[in-house]
Amino acid sequence: MAARFIFLVAVCLLGVSAAPSKQLRDDVSDEAKLDTPELLKKHGYPVEIHEVTTEDGYILTMHRVPYSPVSPLVDGTKKPPILVQHGLLSSSADWVVMGPGIGYAYVLADAGYDVWLGNCRGNTYSKKHVSYKVDSDEFWDFSWHENGIYDVPAEIDYILKNTGEQKLFYAGHSMGTTMFYVMTSEKPEYNDKIRAMFSLAPIAFMNHMASPFFQIFSKGEAFMEVILKLLGIREFMPSNDLMDLGGKILCQDGAITQAVCSNVLFLIAGYDTKELNETMLPSILAHTPAGASVKQLLHYAQEINSGHFRQYDHGLIGNMIKYKRATPPDYDLSKVTAPVYLHYSENDWLAGLKDIDRLYEGLKNAFKHEVSLTSFNHLDYLWAIHSPELVYDETINIMKNY
Ligand SMILES: *[C@@H]1O[C@H](CO)[C@@H](O)[C@H](O)[C@H]1NC(C)=O
Repeated sequence: MAARFIFLVAVCLLGVSAAPSKQLRDDVSDEAKLDTPELLKKHGYPVEIHEVTTEDGYILTMHRVPYSPVSPLVDGTKKPPILVQHGLLSSSADWVVMGPGIGYAYVLADAGYDVWLGNCRGNTYSKKHVSYKVDSDEFWDFSWHENGIYDVPAEIDYILKNTGEQKLFYAGHSMGTTMFYVMTSEKPEYNDKIRAMFSLAPIAFMNHMASPFFQIFSKGEAFMEVILKLLGIREFMPSNDLMDLGGKILCQDGAITQAVCSNVLFLIAGYDTKELNETMLPSILAHTPAGASVKQLLHYAQEINSGHFRQYDHGLIGNMIKYKRATPPDYDLSKVTAPVYLHYSENDWLAGLKDIDRLYEGLKNAFKHEVSLTSFNHLDYLWAIHSPELVYDETINIMKNY
């Protein structure tokens, strides 16, 4: 059994064949190929494109929706800014692909907010660096630790400077929440720049998650470290063999279409037939996977195995060099003092209820909001038919208090 798992993990790292969704991307209609700014324009929303360079040289693209047709700019009044940060393998498209009335970017802009959509290093919109080439090992040598200490602070500082505001709201999905906890624990001065933070599917501790993909992936962790050393660090590119395995896990349910079974994001996070509008699937699949580093996945695999929320584990010798101790230091959640609203759900494969409780206990200023629909899953926070009623409207009601 174990040997088979390790073999599959090796296949997933060694395989250089393109992800099936890339082929799909060529087959889908022109409409599904629209990028984030084009989607916003198509729906009659204003969009600005901003580039920000991080302290360590990555050039990130942010997409801004400064107002909406429903909530135009009025002279002399300022709209409160909110930074919305996507999760693993995703991009700013998460928040616009479903269109007005459903996508979070439209809902927020309609409610009167100045919406900034972040894009982490390595995704479709942020594949640039001042000196590294995008296909180099140096470029891909990052996990969500670097997203947290470099990408998010750069985005926040840029937004505050551009708008002349002192503070902003932050909403993150999945890894977009992990990055926030990393930032506010490692650079606690950033707590003062946050009005309130909304964690959609919060991820810090992970040893109670139920994703079959990660259960398999994390078992091969030690072996993958060896592969990393041999082959270098690179972009996560699932091979067709890995996706065949995914098909076997996901596609036992006959209601799920082949296109979903062959998409790595659904393989990791699960699929909800009730809340996902199948008509929109080609558009959703055209935007994901949007790029991730092998180290981002490995860092999560380490969390699952260790039960800690802590920095990247480089092995004994690497840890001694980097951290001057045998194990990586934990992130100190007691330093996260900004108000954090945890939006979680029972059927989430990645954000387990026990892990949410532990996060809640660790945070100094946190509030729990369970989604009322029990079948709500990890990706429903992005694309569910009823996400405004079930999650988004609640975040907007809370924002009115700050
Ligand atoms: C699904 O999406 C299509 C295309 O946007 C739309 O016409 C339809 O009303 C949606 N269905 C539901 C149940 O929201």
